[in-house]
Amino acid sequence: MSPEHPPVSPAGGASAPTGDQDVRSGLKPLLQAPLDDLAIRVRGLTKRFGNLVAVDAVDLDVPRRHVYGFLGPNGSGKSTTIRMLCGLLTPSAGEIDVLGLRIPEQAEQLRTRIGYMTQKFSLFEDLSVRENLEFLAAVQDIPRSRARRRIDELIEQYHFQDRQKQLAGTMSGGQKQRLALAGAVIHEPELLFLDEPTSAVDPESRRDFWEKLFELADAGTTLLVSTHYMDEAERCHRIAILDRGVLVADGTPDALTGELAGRTLVVEAAQPRLAQKALLGLPGVLSVAQIGNALRVLMAENGDAAGRIAHGLRAAGIEAGVSASQANLEDVFVSATRGRPDREEAA
Ligand SMILES: Nc1ncnc2c1ncn2[C@@H]1O[C@H](COP(=O)(O)OP(=O)(O)OP(=O)(O)O)[C@@H](O)[C@H]1O
Ligand SMILES: [Mg+2]
Repeated sequence: MSPEHPPVSPAGGASAPTGDQDVRSGLKPLLQAPLDDLAIRVRGLTKRFGNLVAVDAVDLDVPRRHVYGFLGPNGSGKSTTIRMLCGLLTPSAGEIDVLGLRIPEQAEQLRTRIGYMTQKFSLFEDLSVRENLEFLAAVQDIPRSRARRRIDELIEQYHFQDRQKQLAGTMSGGQKQRLALAGAVIHEPELLFLDEPTSAVDPESRRDFWEKLFELADAGTTLLVSTHYMDEAERCHRIAILDRGVLVADGTPDALTGELAGRTLVVEAAQPRLAQKALLGLPGVLSVAQIGNALRVLMAENGDAAGRIAHGLRAAGIEAGVSASQANLEDVFVSATRGRPDREEAA
């Protein structure tokens, strides 16, 4: 599944992990993080494919031990950025520092210190669970006896005790994803890149998968994870949003939603479709989404948004209740990606 628009976030999101690295609070001040507290530092990162600027002068700081979410519409440059950070793709311009190494020049030294889980399943379907892990251990040059111990450990941690001999190709999507994660961390990397790791798994498996991600973060791993799911983004310590290659938002979920204060409304009308049409014609309305019988409205600016909308609807002959609402990350996403003029227009 590769949705064109991010799925609506379930109310409440997922539970915060336990431990001193709470998702919502207790975070270190990030802007002042010293350089060696950064796992990734990127300046002016650019990738051109012919005339297309897939990644456009991106600056990014990813602090160590953080779960950093990477969001953006299809084709916005997430995978391309991740591949450059791993040293798999040469940038057209810009500087990359990952775990203190200059990339792509020192990519070979980086290889053993990072894990990378790609957007597609990267398992051998006709090898068993255990054989897949053995293969990946060999690729990482892990000595045999250590590999055996590590694989035993992973089989237990990732709940494959009863499936060691099952062919990877016969497992469910969620099980494959779990195995791919086990494979990506076989060499205990300091930094893990996950490119849409949960795009084909059910909500329960996604939740389990994220528990594993936070266990890794608690153990000191830094994670950069791209996703289209707002409930996953909400769980990240920080998120960055790309739009047509440009970094359009970067911050903690709380800070980013806080920036939209006063710009989100809920409109309740007897005929929501009619109200939606009228709303879309009003100045300053960035988006209108129907959620059940209510309409969620995002405004381009704050400043008596509720009053202006109520007035506009009345003028259009529509009876409706208008109330202020708390912004969520989906609003942030829409505002950052839809509220931006087209590059052509901006140029
Ligand atoms: N090797 C390539 N040659 C030409 N164009 C490319 C290449 N790789 C990526 N692109 C283009 O670069 C843009 C960014 O692609 P990328 O895969 O990074 O997007 P994405 O944000 O990961 O999207 P999705 O959410 O769909 O995975 C797209 O327009 C894509 O077609
Ligand atoms: Mg991608």
